[in-house]
Amino acid sequence: AQANIGVIGMAVMGSNLARNLASREGNTVAIYNRSAEKTRAVVSEFPEAGFVASESIEEFAASLVKPRTAIIMVKAGAGTDAVINQLTTVFEPGDIIVDGGNALFTDTIRREKAVRETGINFVGAGISGGEEGALKGPSIMPGGSAEAWETLGPILKSIAAVAEGEPCVTHVGTDGAGHFVKMIHNGIEYADMQLIAEAYDLIRRGTGKSPAEIADIFTEWNKGELESYLIEITAEVLRQVDAKTGQPLVDVIVDQAGAKGTGAWTVQTALDLGIPVSGIAEAVFARSLSSKPAQRAAASSLPGPSSEWTVDDADAFVEDVRQALYASKIIAYSQGFDEIVAGAEEYNWDIKKGDIAKIWRGGCIIRAQFLNRITEAYDENPGLVALVTAPYFTDAVSQAQDAWRRVVVAAAQAGIPSPAFSSSLSYYDGLRADRLPAALVQGQRDFFGAHTYRRVDAEGTFHTLWSGDRSEIEATDTH
Ligand code: 6PG
Repeated sequence: AQANIGVIGMAVMGSNLARNLASREGNTVAIYNRSAEKTRAVVSEFPEAGFVASESIEEFAASLVKPRTAIIMVKAGAGTDAVINQLTTVFEPGDIIVDGGNALFTDTIRREKAVRETGINFVGAGISGGEEGALKGPSIMPGGSAEAWETLGPILKSIAAVAEGEPCVTHVGTDGAGHFVKMIHNGIEYADMQLIAEAYDLIRRGTGKSPAEIADIFTEWNKGELESYLIEITAEVLRQVDAKTGQPLVDVIVDQAGAKGTGAWTVQTALDLGIPVSGIAEAVFARSLSSKPAQRAAASSLPGPSSEWTVDDADAFVEDVRQALYASKIIAYSQGFDEIVAGAEEYNWDIKKGDIAKIWRGGCIIRAQFLNRITEAYDENPGLVALVTAPYFTDAVSQAQDAWRRVVVAAAQAGIPSPAFSSSLSYYDGLRADRLPAALVQGQRDFFGAHTYRRVDAEGTFHTLWSGDRSEIEATDTH
């Protein structure tokens, strides 16, 4: 045995993570892939990594020092289960299996339970940062036991991105906590991307600026409170010119957004938990709508607004959009953190919200300056009920709200879809409302289903005898 860490799965994410590990002082990395050909190719392509390659799982296990630690980097799903099954036959109690894929957290809970029964540790670890992050330093969100973290922590710290001197990894919580938090990261990623896309669309259609000019605007925005990886790469994408046609690349890309499912999981889970992640949901649905060519073609002749939309002051409009973007972004993160709080409660995880914001400052796709403000908000008040109610965010949203409203009004009048901007604003107005029409919904429910309601001025539950004399009775049962 000579390797202190192993990686299984030599697709790009796996080989990049293995190379990252190998580049750190003190690591010798064992590698294994289902097809040995791929393993051999990786060994010859990256001789400097000094990989210890195996062509069988037995050989792989034998090449690792105890407690053996192996990171699985295969496409999430049935393949993950197959590798886990193989590993449990060759690993021993005390060894550690890490799943670094984008697994659904409930799968991780199930796998952790099953593997734990063999005495082997199982850690579901969310890894964000794409191919480059895996190679140079990702943000890592591991779950699993405290015992596993003791061995694994130092290794993960050595390969993680560093933000303001701190490695972007923390023990998130037990079993599926890491993959749960990675899922929320991706949900927020979807919302952030959609908001940026809406901002671009509004500016382009409102002011007629070219993609390259809008790229300059994003580059400028990236110097302020919106500073983030997604804003930075958006500018690069918008600046890209297609070699074939000479057109902006964005104009030759088919406008149908793909999705691999993590955004949808965030929303499905939120529905189960009863958490209104409306901004994230709109982002997922916006991708679905874009990818329905038949429906879009059938609807393309439906009428739009009868009057022309003109933006009188382009600079003022761009600034309004910037503020609307910032306010909506705050709502998306607030909703995402609400879901983390609810998930932690449901699954008994002790998740430190401030630490999650910290490990998202570097390496991951949603990395941004702004995450420091989230950490500060939770440091000041760990029991914060909604991020948007923390003083910094309340101030930011108060300052932005007039611009935000103007942008949503303009989008509606111009007939430009802005689902994430407008749903975020509705969420904000819903949350801050003194009274909501939910009272009427309760009345309707009581009318047709005797579902009862509570009164503002008395304890208990009540029902109106809608089909009788319409007097009110106290109800014993709640439906
Ligand atoms: C990351 C990304 C990564 C992946 C997304 C893409 O954090 O590094 O989120 O996990 O690129 O899952 O998701 P879609 O294909 O669904 O957009």
